[in-house]
Amino acid sequence: MRPYDVILKKRNGGKLTKEEIEYMIMGYVNGEIPDYQMSAFLMAIYFRHLDKDERAIFTEIMAKSGDMLDLSPIKGVKVDKHSTGGVGDKTTLVVAPIVASLGIPVAKMSGRALGHTGGTIDKLESIPGFKTSLSLEKFFENVNKYKIAVVGQTANLAPADKKIYALRDATATVDEISLIASSIMSKKLAGGADAFVLDVKVGSGAFMKDISSAKELASAMVEIAKSHNKTAVAVLTNMDEPLGTFAGNSLEVLEAINTLKGQGDEKFRTLCLTLSAWMCHLAGLGSYEKCFELSKEALDTGKALEKFREFVKAQEGNEMVVESPEKILPISNKIVEFKASEDGYISSIDTEKVGIACNYLGAGRVKKEDNIDHSVGLEFLKKIGDKVKNGDTLVRLYVSEKSNIDEAMNLLKQAYNISSTKTNPLEIILDIV
Ligand code: URA
Repeated sequence: MRPYDVILKKRNGGKLTKEEIEYMIMGYVNGEIPDYQMSAFLMAIYFRHLDKDERAIFTEIMAKSGDMLDLSPIKGVKVDKHSTGGVGDKTTLVVAPIVASLGIPVAKMSGRALGHTGGTIDKLESIPGFKTSLSLEKFFENVNKYKIAVVGQTANLAPADKKIYALRDATATVDEISLIASSIMSKKLAGGADAFVLDVKVGSGAFMKDISSAKELASAMVEIAKSHNKTAVAVLTNMDEPLGTFAGNSLEVLEAINTLKGQGDEKFRTLCLTLSAWMCHLAGLGSYEKCFELSKEALDTGKALEKFREFVKAQEGNEMVVESPEKILPISNKIVEFKASEDGYISSIDTEKVGIACNYLGAGRVKKEDNIDHSVGLEFLKKIGDKVKNGDTLVRLYVSEKSNIDEAMNLLKQAYNISSTKTNPLEIILDIV
């Protein structure tokens, strides 16, 4: 077999065998296939796609290219949640304690900020003392004891995906459904959970800008899980505006704690309850409706808040963050306001630009090596459908000396559109696959 033959076969629309896919992926990982041939192969996939069987094989080979975590030391059904990434997405901080408080083990390896989207690990690190790196033994011990542990990715999960993703990023082959689905699912399969709840974001702040491509991606991921005898549900959720009230690390932890106290944004609460209910349902706790009620009860009775406290303490964070988040979390007290320049209704928000504005304040990374400033971020006072007057504050910017306020303001100006005709507020849950 030669790389040329496999590239030609896919270029002409042929169906690849397991041997051919394995030959290309492993050959590339081992350095036997050069970048230019792998790039041509990826471009052929971009135009010709992979069918259901090819996707399952592509995913399996990438998953098996590194460590395959064995979660069997953890008792019970292990359900993982994955978000395709958005602005203000702090759901794990609320969903994980809800689910754990209902006795379902949450053993989560989470990521850091990427592009215009934030990462759970950076958010948790804004709690003083909180350790996001635990040994595997301690990780298992905490999940068995408290039903919850969230750590940064330490295992070498799907290294083939890492290398191929970097090449896709440089060759305009990222946005192809088969490649995205197998990239995400290879890491999920290697992570060892039994079932997956996939939060597929749709809209201006998401990878998938429209509902039909998001649905296609969701179905591809659910199919891949099925092909590997795992269950998965995809929840399509709105990312045409930032999620909840805050974006930025400490500010999102503050919002998560307020939500666990029964306060805060209604749409964010609905999303957290929906994802928790699906996780509990896949773990076998009962029907989706029953699990939704149980999740609501865990939130309303403070059971989930207590679980959050236990979780913070178990990972050496300052548990006083639960009582006095504003005191314990580093939150900048230097505030700048972005105001409406006309009367009308908020008609659209380019959410990706909002995420980038947040990065310019220092909340995310422009380069991989950049340090995060946990104290900065954005507070959203108006959302789509809200009536505004010239001079009303739309967004509060929590800034530091290092923030590039001019760039952030400029992006917010481009992101917010005001119209004289009334626009309806957005639904948060769009579909279930
Ligand atoms: N996230 C991933 O992990 N992979 C992709 O291809 C796209 C988004």
